[in-house]
Amino acid sequence: MAPPVHAKLCVGSSGIAPHAFDMPQKETRKMNISIFGLGYVGSVSAACLCNAGHTVIGVDLNAMKVSAINAGTTPVLETHVPEMVAEGVASGRLKATFDIREAILNTEISLLCVGTPSRPNGDIDISHILKVATDIGTILRDKDAFHTITIRSTVFPGTAEKVASAVAAASGKTADEHFAVTVNPEFLREGQGVDDFRNPPLILIGGTNNFAMDQVAALYEGIDAPVYREPTRTAEMVKYANNSFHATKITFANEIGNISKAMGVDSHRVMELLCADTKLNISPAYLKPGFAFGGSCLPKDVRALQFRSKDLDISAPLLDALLESNQAQIRRVIDQLLAWGERNIGFLGLAFKSGTDDLRESPIVEVIERMIGKGFSCRIYDPEVSTGKLIGANLDYIEQEIPHLDELLVGSMDEVLDHADVIVVANATDEFKKVLEYRRPEQRIIDLAHIIDVSPSGDWYEGICW
Ligand SMILES: NC(=O)c1ccc[n+]([C@@H]2O[C@H](COP(=O)([O-])OP(=O)(O)OC[C@H]3O[C@@H](n4cnc5c(N)ncnc54)[C@H](O)[C@@H]3O)[C@@H](O)[C@H]2O)c1
Repeated sequence: MAPPVHAKLCVGSSGIAPHAFDMPQKETRKMNISIFGLGYVGSVSAACLCNAGHTVIGVDLNAMKVSAINAGTTPVLETHVPEMVAEGVASGRLKATFDIREAILNTEISLLCVGTPSRPNGDIDISHILKVATDIGTILRDKDAFHTITIRSTVFPGTAEKVASAVAAASGKTADEHFAVTVNPEFLREGQGVDDFRNPPLILIGGTNNFAMDQVAALYEGIDAPVYREPTRTAEMVKYANNSFHATKITFANEIGNISKAMGVDSHRVMELLCADTKLNISPAYLKPGFAFGGSCLPKDVRALQFRSKDLDISAPLLDALLESNQAQIRRVIDQLLAWGERNIGFLGLAFKSGTDDLRESPIVEVIERMIGKGFSCRIYDPEVSTGKLIGANLDYIEQEIPHLDELLVGSMDEVLDHADVIVVANATDEFKKVLEYRRPEQRIIDLAHIIDVSPSGDWYEGICW
């Protein structure tokens, strides 16, 4: 994957004496931008882009918001936004309107910042987005120049495609030829919107049209942040991954806090020390999609904390869900093997991770045990594991789970390949990765370890969650 490029350090001029909230000035390309939706995201974007020297026309259905902007005041309460809006309106580079025609014919790029509220069933309502798309398409009928649309609202993967279809249907024009739809998710937090807009952790642009993506990148010239250009659906998904991650972190800290408090432990100190580990905790470690966790520690310790929280009468639904979610990941493999139905299965990797012979609570052991129970014929190869060397709790565990393991273990990958219709790759060792070269055309692979960067086409390969 290409590394991100940093936006160039520069930013435009307001033409008015600098204020504390002004960006450092440098000459950059100035654009004419329309912003649909002058709520929180739209107003902060309008204020920041205008302050950076661009010309902005805001569009909203709400008369109060339109007149607030035109009066040089702000529809949202946010640090620096009122001053920036007042200055933008005074400079003649910021206005608001109900007139979509004026907004589209006088701008080269439109930012969609309308709401995507929850439906009663939890789904999002994208009707505002699609309405704006149709409105823009209707005006594009009369516009010869290329127009770029970028979705700032939070939307599910596939929404940009729906927006492109709605624009094409209303305009009679062709996506990527006369207009393009890109995605540029907003990461700002309310209360620090201007600061977050100017100091984002990254700038994410999803799309297929390079010209349109360049235009979106140009909005951020002057901001020192890495720019990632990604497939549209990836960019759409990232915002949901981010917000779910933030919610998970908050909930996790709260549950650890509740349990710590009940045990008379300083929860803030516990979490400070958790965060002090930037190798395994606050790091990319354990954040790759893959197979279930296992081993002698994680399941045991999660179970223990679950038990203790119940004992203390402390509700901890997130911690409670961990083992259940882990079981669901194991079931995905079993369900896939059952769906394919091939009777001879080969397993590459038996320990819960490579480089160890620890089989205790290895999730692949559970898969094998279940498949044997259902009458499938299994062969297993793991260079780290030989029954003769297993001792102690490790041996007890495997004797209980797979009593005749020595009859199933083979000494080489070739023996697994000779036997199997389906090969399950549980660990990403260099040796196991060679299965991609050595497999026979009819042999299928279930990859639990991400041994391949881009999933191949055809139904012979199934990544567990990619
Ligand atoms: N608020 C945040 O902190 C935040 C941060 C990142 C992303 N987001 C996402 O950004 C999007 C907007 O959020 P918000 O908080 O600014 O919403 P908001 O509800 O404050 O504002 C949305 C605005 O869109 C206007 N609107 C609706 N239909 C319109 C139409 N057809 N034409 C023109 N204007 C129209 C509404 O009148 C309203 O002013 C949402 O998808 C949200 O999930 C929000």
